[in-house]
Amino acid sequence: MSKLTIRDLKLKDKKLLIRVDFNVPFKDGQISDDNRIIQALPTIMYALKKRAKVILLSHLGRVKTEEDLAKNSLAPVAKRLEELLGKPVVFIPETRGPKLEAAINNLKAGEILMIENTRFEDLDGNKESKNNPELGKYWASLGDLFVNDAFGTAHRAHASNVGIASNIGGAAAGFLLEKEIKFIGEAVDNPKRPFVAILGGAKVSDKIGVIENLLKTADHILIGGGMAYTFVKAQGNDVGLSLVEDDKLDLAKDLLEKAKGKIILGTDVYTAKEFSNDSEKNLRDYTNIPADEMGLDVGPKTLELFKKYLKDAKTVVWNGPLGVFEFPNFANGTVEIAKFLSTLTDATTVVGGGDSAAAVIENGLEKGFTHISTGGGASLEYLEGKKLPGIECVNDK
Ligand code: 3PG
Repeated sequence: MSKLTIRDLKLKDKKLLIRVDFNVPFKDGQISDDNRIIQALPTIMYALKKRAKVILLSHLGRVKTEEDLAKNSLAPVAKRLEELLGKPVVFIPETRGPKLEAAINNLKAGEILMIENTRFEDLDGNKESKNNPELGKYWASLGDLFVNDAFGTAHRAHASNVGIASNIGGAAAGFLLEKEIKFIGEAVDNPKRPFVAILGGAKVSDKIGVIENLLKTADHILIGGGMAYTFVKAQGNDVGLSLVEDDKLDLAKDLLEKAKGKIILGTDVYTAKEFSNDSEKNLRDYTNIPADEMGLDVGPKTLELFKKYLKDAKTVVWNGPLGVFEFPNFANGTVEIAKFLSTLTDATTVVGGGDSAAAVIENGLEKGFTHISTGGGASLEYLEGKKLPGIECVNDK
């Protein structure tokens, strides 16, 4: 990689600021998915082993009101990190001030501290999210060196990534950021062929940029999930009650024309009369969806067709579920594709964040994949070919 990485830094006795993305989901007050914390461990452990004084910064959720403060404290995240590292993590429930500064000054080589949610600064004029120059400068003043490992936040130009980098002489990439750049960046810019992308999720409008960019490099784009019905309708089919973005029909038609056969839609679909897990399931052809039914999952013939394109692929990028993954009765397509991709040992397989990553993790298939991205919005923007501020602020070697 042409970017400076943590390996290039002399860390011993240095106060090392590391921006991580610990914006993890919570359910009933508990962290429900700690993948982002686990994926940041290699960078943190390396820095500790090299005897840096580690200062972690992350956001959690969005902070707009006083009530958001209690809901979005990073204290439980620091606790989970402590369990995973098996060593104390000093948590400072503040984002600035004498207490934080004293704690940093007391930090010894090989010790680690985490500051409170960087977005607590948003309560007073969106200082973090608007990359307030004074805030970036202040956080930069707390450290000697800066490592950015927050790929999930790389599409944001905030004080805790871009702001610190511009006040401390730039940034080096952590191992996670490096991995994301390598696997997503290379898949898009320089893929081993055949390169097959699988796109799903509810809306075409969320993926227009991705489709346009991938049409330049992918050999095939397999489309499932709710977004498929806008394409199926654009081909002149009646799709009943299925999700369709009528204002995107012309665009879908244009994309199909531009794609010259690269876009592969399925042939069959499981439908139901209601948007409910318990609604009776019918198998229909895409060309024959009754007016009072909606497509909720890809059918077996579609899965076979998709597997035919995937089996010889050398690079696969997958973003978005192929059906209503949160309904167990309509999760089959998504889970089947996850299982099939995990068997492709000769291919580089990269999964974008969100539901497709959850399908892989919930089914214990992580080991069968080359990389599971920690980015949601960030991986989409990266797949669109956009330059991400959190990557741009990392120095070249
Ligand atoms: C994410 O979860 O996509 C990132 O942590 C960024 O969060 P945001 O959309 O609130 O900026």
